[in-house]
Amino acid sequence: MITLGFAVLFSSVLLVSQAPPAASLNNGVGRLPFMGYNTWNAYHCEINETIVLNTAHLMKSLGLLDVGYDHVNIDDCYSERTRSASGDIIANKERFASGMNKLTDQIHALGLKAGIYSDSGWFTCQLFPGSFQNEARDAKLFQDWGFDLLKYDNCAVPFDSVIKEGMVGKYSRMANAIADLAKTSGKPPLLFSLCQWGREQPWLWGRRFGQSWRTTDDIGPDWGALSSIINQNSFISWASDFYGHNDMDILFRGNGNLTFDEAKSHFTAWALMKSPLLIIFYLKLSVASKETLEILMNKEIIAINQDPVVGTSITPFRWGVNPDWSNNFTHPAQFWSGESQNGTVFMLLNVLNEPADMFFSLTESPWIRAGREYSVRDLWAHTNNGTAIRNITVHQVPPHGVVALLLKDAGDEPAGTEPPCARPEWCMDKNGTRIDQ
Ligand SMILES: *[C@@H]1O[C@H](CO)[C@@H](O)[C@H](O)[C@H]1NC(C)=O
Ligand SMILES: *[C@@H]1O[C@H](CO)[C@@H](O)[C@H](O)[C@H]1NC(C)=O
Ligand SMILES: *[C@@H]1O[C@H](CO)[C@@H](O)[C@H](O)[C@H]1NC(C)=O
Ligand SMILES: *[C@@H]1O[C@H](CO)[C@@H](O)[C@H](O)[C@H]1NC(C)=O
Ligand SMILES: *[C@@H]1O[C@H](CO)[C@@H](O)[C@H](O)[C@H]1NC(C)=O
Ligand SMILES: *[C@@H]1O[C@H](CO)[C@@H](O)[C@H](O)[C@H]1NC(C)=O
Ligand SMILES: *[C@@H]1O[C@H](CO)[C@@H](O)[C@H](O)[C@H]1NC(C)=O
Repeated sequence: MITLGFAVLFSSVLLVSQAPPAASLNNGVGRLPFMGYNTWNAYHCEINETIVLNTAHLMKSLGLLDVGYDHVNIDDCYSERTRSASGDIIANKERFASGMNKLTDQIHALGLKAGIYSDSGWFTCQLFPGSFQNEARDAKLFQDWGFDLLKYDNCAVPFDSVIKEGMVGKYSRMANAIADLAKTSGKPPLLFSLCQWGREQPWLWGRRFGQSWRTTDDIGPDWGALSSIINQNSFISWASDFYGHNDMDILFRGNGNLTFDEAKSHFTAWALMKSPLLIIFYLKLSVASKETLEILMNKEIIAINQDPVVGTSITPFRWGVNPDWSNNFTHPAQFWSGESQNGTVFMLLNVLNEPADMFFSLTESPWIRAGREYSVRDLWAHTNNGTAIRNITVHQVPPHGVVALLLKDAGDEPAGTEPPCARPEWCMDKNGTRIDQ
C-alpha cells in the first residue's frame, strides 16, 4: 500500500516536471525532422526547372532518397517580379516555363516531395512578391501547384503602423492560412518551415506554428561557423521534439574548408540534435564528393535523427574544457547524451586544435543506470566495441573530430566492481557509513 501511494505521487510529480514549455503543433505532418535538398546555397537566384528536376533525379540515383532525403525544396527567385492582375504569384515564365504542376508531378513521380518558398513580409529577400496580406491565396496556390512544404522567410517587414504585430503575429498569419486550407481542402497541411533567423527566439514560440524554426543566422562555411551554431543550440536543445525542431541551417554550405573530421562532427551534431537535414550539391561539379556522400548517408546516425520512438535531442552533460554552461563560440560543450529507441546515444566533440583523449563516467549521463554494464556501438566505425563498465575513454579523438556511440544495457555489472558508487557524492552503506569522506 505504502509503495503504491509513493509510486503514484512520484509519477505525477514526474509528469509535471516533464511537461514541455509549450505544445508542439501536432497536425500530422513533420513529426520527424524533414530531410532533403534546398536550392539556395548552391544556386542563389540562378535556378530553373531543369536544375530542380535534375537534382531530384540525382537524389534518387545517388541513393540519397533511399536513406531519407526525400524533399527537393525550391528557394527564392522562382517567380515573376509582380503578381498577376488577379493577384496570384506567377512562376517565372522562362525559367519555370512548363509550370509548377508539371514540375511537382515529376518530382512526386520519383518518390520525392517538393518544397516552395515565400516570405512573411511585402517581398522575399530577393524582392520577389512576399505573402503578407496574401497568406490564404498563396497557401492555396502552393498547394494547388502540388507543393508539400513551405519555407517562410523574414525580409521586407511591414511598418509597425501597418502590421501591428510582433514576430508571433506575423508568422501566425500564414500558420492560420495553412491550417484553414487543410480544413477546407481535406488535404494534409503544408509542412511549415519557419526561417525567421535566430535573434527572435523562435524556440519559445515557433513550435506553436511550424514544424521547424531556424535557431541562428545563416551558417558560414568553416569550423568557426559550426562551433558557433553548436554552442548556441546547446542552450536550447530542449526545444526539439516530435513535430517541432530547432533548424540549425543547411549542411556543408558552399566551398568551405572543412576537414573530413569537421564534416563528420557537423553531420553528427545536426542529426543527433534533431535538426532538419538539408543538403546542397552542385550539378555542375557532378555533385558531392565521395567523402561527403559517405558522411551524409551514415544510416546509423540518420536513424537517430529519424527515431520513430524518441523525439528529443541530445543535450550536454558536461562542457569539457570550460565550466558547464559556458557560452563560448569557439569551444562549445563537448560531452552530450540523449535517449533513443535502442539505447543511450553519446556524442563527444573534440573542440581543441589537437588530438585529445576523452573520458567520461557513464552515469554522468542522466539516461544511464548505475550498477549496469553497457554494450558499445560505434556509429561511425560501424563496429561493436565491447562492453563498458562505469566509464569510457576514447583515445586520440582528432582535432574538431567527433565520436558517436550507442550504449545498450547489457545487464548487471560484474560483482565486486569498485568503488561501490561510480558517482561518490553521498555514497553510503546501509549501515550509515559514507564512503566519500
Ligand atoms: C537552366 O540553367 C542551366 C544552367 O545555367 C542551363 O544550362 C539551362 O539551359 C537552364 N534551363 C532553363 C530551362 O532555363
Ligand atoms: C578556412 O579555415 C580557417 C580556420 O578555421 C579560417 O580561418 C579560414 O578563413 C577558412 N577559409 C575559408 C576559405 O573558409
Ligand atoms: C534500432 O534498431 C533497429 C534494428 O537494428 C533499427 O532498424 C532502427 O533503425 C534503430 N533505431 C534507431 C533510432 O537507431
Ligand atoms: C573560449 O574557451 C577557450 C578555452 O577555454 C578560451 O581560451 C577562450 O578565451 C574562450 N573564449 C571566450 C570568448 O570566452
Ligand atoms: C571501435 O572499434 C573500431 C574497430 O576496431 C575502431 O576503429 C574504433 O575506433 C573503435 N571506437 C572507439 C570509440 O574506440
Ligand atoms: C573506470 O571504471 C573502472 C571500472 O570499470 C574503474 O576501475 C576505474 O577506476 C574507473 N576510472 C575512473 C577514472 O573513474
Ligand atoms: C559499515 O559499512 C562500511 C562500508 O561498507 C564497512 O566498511 C563497515 O565494516 C560496516 N560496519 C559495520 C559495523 O558493519
